Amino acid sequence: MVPNIKTPLPGPKAKAIIDRDQTVVSPSYTRGYPLVIERGTGSSVQDVDGNLFLDCAAGIAVNSTGHSHPDVVRAITEQSQKFLHMSGTDFYYEPQVRLAEELASIVPIRNGVRSFFGNSGTEAIEACIKLARYATGRPNIVAFLGGFHGRTLGALALTASKAIQRRGFGPLMSGVFHAPYADCYRCPLGLRAENCAAECLDFIDHQLFVHLVSPDEVAAIVVEPIQGEGGYVVAPDQFLQRLRELTQKNGILLVADEVQSGMGRSGKMFAIEHAGVEPDIVAIAKGVASGLPLGVAAARADLMSWPPGAHASTFGGNPVSCAAALVTIGLLKQQLVANAATVGAHLLDGLKGLSDKHRLIGDVRGRGLMIGVELVRDRTTKERATDERDAVVTAAFRRGLLVLGAGKNAIRFSPPLVLTRAEADTAVRIFDEALTEVGAAR
Ligand SMILES: Cc1ncc(COP(=O)(O)O)c(C=O)c1O
Repeated sequence: MVPNIKTPLPGPKAKAIIDRDQTVVSPSYTRGYPLVIERGTGSSVQDVDGNLFLDCAAGIAVNSTGHSHPDVVRAITEQSQKFLHMSGTDFYYEPQVRLAEELASIVPIRNGVRSFFGNSGTEAIEACIKLARYATGRPNIVAFLGGFHGRTLGALALTASKAIQRRGFGPLMSGVFHAPYADCYRCPLGLRAENCAAECLDFIDHQLFVHLVSPDEVAAIVVEPIQGEGGYVVAPDQFLQRLRELTQKNGILLVADEVQSGMGRSGKMFAIEHAGVEPDIVAIAKGVASGLPLGVAAARADLMSWPPGAHASTFGGNPVSCAAALVTIGLLKQQLVANAATVGAHLLDGLKGLSDKHRLIGDVRGRGLMIGVELVRDRTTKERATDERDAVVTAAFRRGLLVLGAGKNAIRFSPPLVLTRAEADTAVRIFDEALTEVGAAR
């Protein structure tokens, strides 16, 4: 039975490992609670003390097919027995070609797609930035406040989620401008998503392009169709549609950062498909290979005209990761994207149903199995309940439910896409208890 918590947390074995970690591992990692995993299967995780948890975090939205899906493990094993590495940048191997063919058939770009392979989300974004600059001959990039695109210095210049992520690392890459994202719960114009025309984008047209940067010097606008790290904020379709019009009018490339929202999580293979928008480049990572490192910049074939030597990565498109990705995509297409849509809708309903009972809940939003719950101290002022958010995450952990924070005061539900309705019900029940505990202590 999951969850099943038998020891105080952390248990003795977990505590011993955490104590060792404290002296030798970088203190820059954000560990919200003391989970030390031993093994996982499907949506459940066992820690080193034998405690069982229901996983609604999936290693930050990565284990798309569940922990150690047998088909993925088999593909990894078979490929490992053949060869582990041959550098796809200097030699050829079929799994990389097959994966590029497969990506070309699922990425929502018509008329041919080429893929560049790296190892992570941030490398996918670096490739997007370099390709956009190279293909347009323009130097500048526009990104959005609240956005997260990675931590290498180019991607970090786009990232505008939490100041701590940038503090002490400047100067960052120049030529980056930020605009407000469509956070409809906190719309500064007081509009509602149902009847707005993405007026927040006027800032780009009427302020940014007038006072700070000429549109003909902007290579790309990089957007998360659903902001992840920034708080699981769902942009309305008209925001992405108008962004497409704005970029097209000015010869600017539209880059969809689908590192977190992609690979079926939103209930469609890519979240931008909900808006019916065709981007020029798509950044992919996280869920694409079920947990093995892989990052992809998939672009309109005609854009990817850079010559040999222009960009490459020794490990990028590693054959074992490619093998895992091919099986992952197969499982997503067969049933997991559909499961994300149906079980996601059920989970969203269940979480929305808690709003009447818990005043702490300000907003529940999401698509598929990418759901955010924003906690506030007061529903009128929408004062952010950051401490309470952290307390709810911890209370859920103590009861055996793994969730993660996002933004200043939201909690994200990003489970493996194999989550069942019964598991979703368990998640809602435990979340309800955690909210009750924290609400009572206020
Ligand atoms: C939308 C988005 N882009 C890029 C990244 C960076 O990915 P990575 O941590 O694999 O470098 C992340 C990571 O959370 C992300 O959510």
